[in-house]
Formats: sequence, C-alpha cells, structure tokens
Amino acid sequence: MSRFLKACRREASDATPIWLMRQAGRYMVEYRTLREKYTILEIIKTPELACEVTMQPINAFDLDAAIIFADILPPLEGMGLELEFVKGEGPVIHNPVRAAADVERLVVRPPQEALSFTLEAIKLARAELDSRSIPLIGFSGAPFTLASYAVEGGGSRNRQHVKGMMMGHPDAWHALMTKLSEVAGHYLLAQAQAGAQALQLFDSWVGELSPDDYAQYVMPYSKRALDIAKQAGVPVIHFGTNTNGMLHHIRDAGGDVIGVDWRIRLDDAWAQLGDSVAIQGNLDPVALFAPWEALKTRAQGILDQAAGRPGHIFNLGHGILPTTPVDNVRRLVDFVHEYTSSNASK
Ligand code: CP3
Repeated sequence: MSRFLKACRREASDATPIWLMRQAGRYMVEYRTLREKYTILEIIKTPELACEVTMQPINAFDLDAAIIFADILPPLEGMGLELEFVKGEGPVIHNPVRAAADVERLVVRPPQEALSFTLEAIKLARAELDSRSIPLIGFSGAPFTLASYAVEGGGSRNRQHVKGMMMGHPDAWHALMTKLSEVAGHYLLAQAQAGAQALQLFDSWVGELSPDDYAQYVMPYSKRALDIAKQAGVPVIHFGTNTNGMLHHIRDAGGDVIGVDWRIRLDDAWAQLGDSVAIQGNLDPVALFAPWEALKTRAQGILDQAAGRPGHIFNLGHGILPTTPVDNVRRLVDFVHEYTSSNASK
C-alpha cells in the first residue's frame, strides 16, 4: 500500500507522505500554457484536459498523491446556479440564493448526471496513475463553504448574507444545508465509485463561525455528507481553516484524517484531536516564498512535531499560491521524504 494511504490509516511507512492542496495550478508553467487556450471551466469539463492537468504536478514532483483537477463550485452549477470565474475577481454566482424561494428552486441531481465530466476524468487519471502506484484523491466542498458561495454570490469579507440566513431564517437555512449535504455526500461517494482512492471534504471558510454556531447549524450537515461518503470505504480527509476553537467538533463530524492550517501547532492540534484520527498539514503556503534554508527549517519543525506518531500527511495549511517558486516546491517534496526516511533508520 502507498505511503499516503498507509498514513490515512495511521500505519507507519518508509517516509512521511506529502501532497499539496491545489497542487495543479497557476504556479506551474505547464498549467498557465494550457490556460492560454482554455478557461478553467473548459478544462474541468473536458475529462482529457482535467486528467492532463491532474498529472502535471505528478510529472514534475515526487508527490505521494494526485488530486483530481476540478473545483468545489461546479456542483452549485448543477443545482441551477449560474457560475462564472471572472478574471482577477474569482468565482461569481449571478443568481445567488437569498430567500426561501431560491432554496426551493435548487435541484439535487445525481452526480452521474450533473458532474459526469469529473467522474470521467477520475477514470482517465486512475488509468495513468495506477502504473505509477500513486493514489488519486477526489474532493467536494463542504456544505457551509458551498453555502457561503451560493448565498454571498462570490467571495466575501464578512459573510453577512450567509450568516444572516443562518441566524435569521433557520427554516431556509436548514433546507439549503440539507440539499447541499446530499449533493456533497453523493458527489464524494460517486468519485470513489469512479476510482478515487481517498476523498477530501474542503470546509475552507468554516473558521468564520463560532464553535457553537458550527455545532448547531453546520456540523449535522457536514456529518451527513461524510456519512454518505463513508459508504465508499475509502479514507476521508476533513479539512478546514481557522478551526482552532472547534477541532473537536470537526473531528466528531467525521473523517479519518483532519486537515489543519498553520494557525495552530501541529502537535497541539493532534493532542486535541486524540488517537482516533490521522492529521494533515500544516505549513503556511507563504513559507514557500522564503529562501530554501528558511523554508527547510519550517518544514523540519513540523515534521519534528509529528515524529514517532504514524499518521501524518505533510501538506500546506491552505492552497498553494499562484506565484509560488517551483524550485522550492521540488525541494520541499524531496526534503520531506529524505528527512523522515533518514530519521526512521536512526
Ligand atoms: O488541488 C488541486 O490541484 C485540484 C484543484 C482545485 C481547484 N480548486 C482548482 C482551481 C481544488 C482542490 C480547488 C478547491 C477550491 N476551489 C476551494 C477549496 C480549497 C481552498 O483553497 O480553500 C475553494 C474555496 C475554491 C473556489 C475557488 N476556485 C476560488 C475562490 C477560485 C479563485 C481564486 C483563485 O485562486 O484564483 C477558484 C479558481 C481555481 N480553482 C483555480 C484553480 C487552479 C485558479 C483559477 C484559474 O486557473 O484561473
């Protein structure tokens, strides 16, 4: 079994596995070249192109897992929302969900119908990855992070609209979150059935909530999505940022591996999470811009915090940034392997 899948199961292996959130993307010249010809949605919706982009970082670096090239937002398009990636601005939903009637209009379609392009891309990528024994990760946005885009209509500083619905219109909120948890859960399950060997639920914006609001208004829906995904029998990674005050809730919602960011020490997070889960993280993505020696010291600091405890997957605390120097990515990946395999033999 691969290092990555072993670590998901908290089993020891020959070295600490590493992959990077958003490892396929603009910091790579191969990606930028393809993007001159196609929009991001064209790449995502053309299985051959999505497969090609999935393989770009795998061909360039000694990574321990691939993640299918997609985005968390196409499932919202499948529900009837009009999605556009606007240059320089990020994603925009032109008809955001603001009232109960908007929630009612959202359709829950089977992923085989609404998201067949990603399921097809998974089959193609698996065929290429199998010959190299590299596992493939499928993913979905979590209900709260999806709701945040669906209700705000794009990125947002204070998340006034989405929290406004949560706090002021509980019936509409619960109806919305019920639909989103079904979509996310079945999308994850379908990705595993198409060939993904692990799954990650991205709750990138959940740290905007108080722990009590998370427990009451969000956790049951993340749990529902994770329970559906679990039927696949593959390991599930549950990732959020800014989750320091609610790690126990994140763990209790589900997931074999909990992803944490750099705002907490890895060993403190793991102590809080306990023995029942593996951990993924947690280098600040900005550290990749530092001179190599400084970056190496930081990576080493994280690896030392996990030393002696199987079940650490090295990753960033959030997605890799668009102008990250490629040389540092290569050196980081190799260093994580070298440092942990020499430690193991001591
Ligand atoms: O990890 C991978 O290599 C798989 C690809 C992947 C993308 N998006 C491709 C992408 C993954 C896992 C995502 C997840 C995603 N998308 C999240 C959760 C993770 C996170 O970073 O918090 C979120 C919140 C989104 C929504 C999204 N997609 C935003 C806010 C943006 C615009 C901001 C930006 O980075 O430009 C995107 C666009 C996007 N998705 C890009 C990529 C490579 C860049 C767009 C481009 O090519 O022009």
